Amino acid sequence: MNEDLKKEIEKRRTFAIISHPDAGKTTLTEKLLLFGGAIHVAGAVKSNKIKKTATSDWMEIEKQRGISVATSVMGFDYDDYKINILDTPGHQDFAEDTFRTLTAVDSVIIVVDVAKGVETQTRRLMEVCRMRNTPVIIFVNKLDREGRDPFDILDELENELKIKVVPLTWPINIGAKFKGVYNIYEHGLDLFTPSKQTISERVEIDDVNSPLVDELIGEADAGKLREDLELIEGVYPEFNVEEYLEGKVAPVFFGSALNTFGVKELLDCFVKIAPSPRPVSAEERTVNPEEDDFSGFVFKIHANMDPNHRSCIAFVKVCSGKFERNVGYKHVRSDKVMKFAAPTAFMAQKKSVVEEAYPGDIVGIPDTGNFKIGDTLTSGENIHFKGLPSFSPEMFKYIENADPMKSKQLEKGIKQLMDEGVAQLFTSTFNGRKIIGTVGQLQFEVIQYRLLHEYGAQCRWEPMSMYKACWIESDDPQALEAFKKRKHQFMATDKDGRDVFMADSNYVLQMAQNDFPKIKFHFSSEF
Ligand code: G4P
Repeated sequence: MNEDLKKEIEKRRTFAIISHPDAGKTTLTEKLLLFGGAIHVAGAVKSNKIKKTATSDWMEIEKQRGISVATSVMGFDYDDYKINILDTPGHQDFAEDTFRTLTAVDSVIIVVDVAKGVETQTRRLMEVCRMRNTPVIIFVNKLDREGRDPFDILDELENELKIKVVPLTWPINIGAKFKGVYNIYEHGLDLFTPSKQTISERVEIDDVNSPLVDELIGEADAGKLREDLELIEGVYPEFNVEEYLEGKVAPVFFGSALNTFGVKELLDCFVKIAPSPRPVSAEERTVNPEEDDFSGFVFKIHANMDPNHRSCIAFVKVCSGKFERNVGYKHVRSDKVMKFAAPTAFMAQKKSVVEEAYPGDIVGIPDTGNFKIGDTLTSGENIHFKGLPSFSPEMFKYIENADPMKSKQLEKGIKQLMDEGVAQLFTSTFNGRKIIGTVGQLQFEVIQYRLLHEYGAQCRWEPMSMYKACWIESDDPQALEAFKKRKHQFMATDKDGRDVFMADSNYVLQMAQNDFPKIKFHFSSEF
């Protein structure tokens, strides 16, 4: 085994921070960068966030997304670790981007607002993590504000996110009376001093019954803390790293990202327990990061909104071996060998040309339309990585050509935008009409604008009432054919030609499920 490669792999921690908008993802990211020395003042990452005022102005959002290319991946060194944080768009209309980014991470930190608890977006993102058994750490944020009882929060996390939880730190009061956290994992008391820039002081405590605790936080709070800890010990099992790595239990930390409190504890524990790059399943076989031969896949394509520069950046996650600049790699889908003269790595907030990259790293490859989401690059082997599912969109519209002279351009534009993963295309098998499915209204506007400005094509949207697109399959080919015949008006194919049932209401879907027990209905394309 290549020892150098192994060392590089073990150093790497590639993860994403996910949350419902406003829970504190940006603030936490920024504080982590601060510890890594990647930035020196708080406030530097704000450009990465889509401002709230801009929620209805998608051009503004795209502009800000443009800025965020540099912050798409934030790499920095911390102790002996190389950390890669993959940014995910905060706006829920781009949730599909986030789902895909989650296929390129080895673990996840979920941020929850102590006052709001688990919110919709968090729940959905957790479903994706659960599908992939991604290890999850939870950070309960904003303890400096009034919020819910921590025991209630733990219950809610467990019930709503459907994962066992174990607190590794415990807050001493919250809101105005917040005094700090007790570090259950490392037996220490972290006392709260509100500060946006500096790190909290830790007092090592061997035993929570020590009189020092009473001295530091007062008798009443010390008494309450001891009671809480006893209860925790009785109710929650001891933290088991293996269970965390299997995605069965989520350790929970409490803190305040804005006040840089509890963040270092989180980071220190994270680097110790979070996984380094793991084996990745491909259709052909499982690919181990330690293999000498390079392999990687495209999980995101970032288009340039400037029509004069029709270039994109394809983000490649290295899965195995070493990636090197100017070495020929096979683009498996096209069966062509490609060389990359200017691949970029992302350190801190800068992009720079990189000579080599290791499993866990993300390489940005300038592209002019060769890449599709999910494409594989290898040293020569034909590998197709699994696990880039499409999820049933939330909104559907027919797309029609509004300029008959430009039908070729429209077709090309739609194809490329779909390859980029902007939205999903379904083709009705009944009437051949094209249906675009999105997560939010904004994506329709983005598509229309980009078709016009980048391809010179005009499109028109026609409403359709649609509830869900379900991928269907059956072990019984006759039953499948019978279903397709009965529902032929509602059948479509996805971009890969697979059968999709377009249910126009929940009722219709339920009836179909009842009437056709031999048919399996899936809400994501990976099953
Ligand atoms: P997001 O990326 O998850 O959407 O959230 P972000 O970090 O932008 O945080 C949302 C708001 O919550 C911000 O306030 C931020 O300052 C605040 N916040 C984050 N962590 C804490 C915390 O620990 N305590 C308190 N009290 N507030 C916190 P904002 O007013 O919306 O933005 P800004 O003007 O401060 O940038």
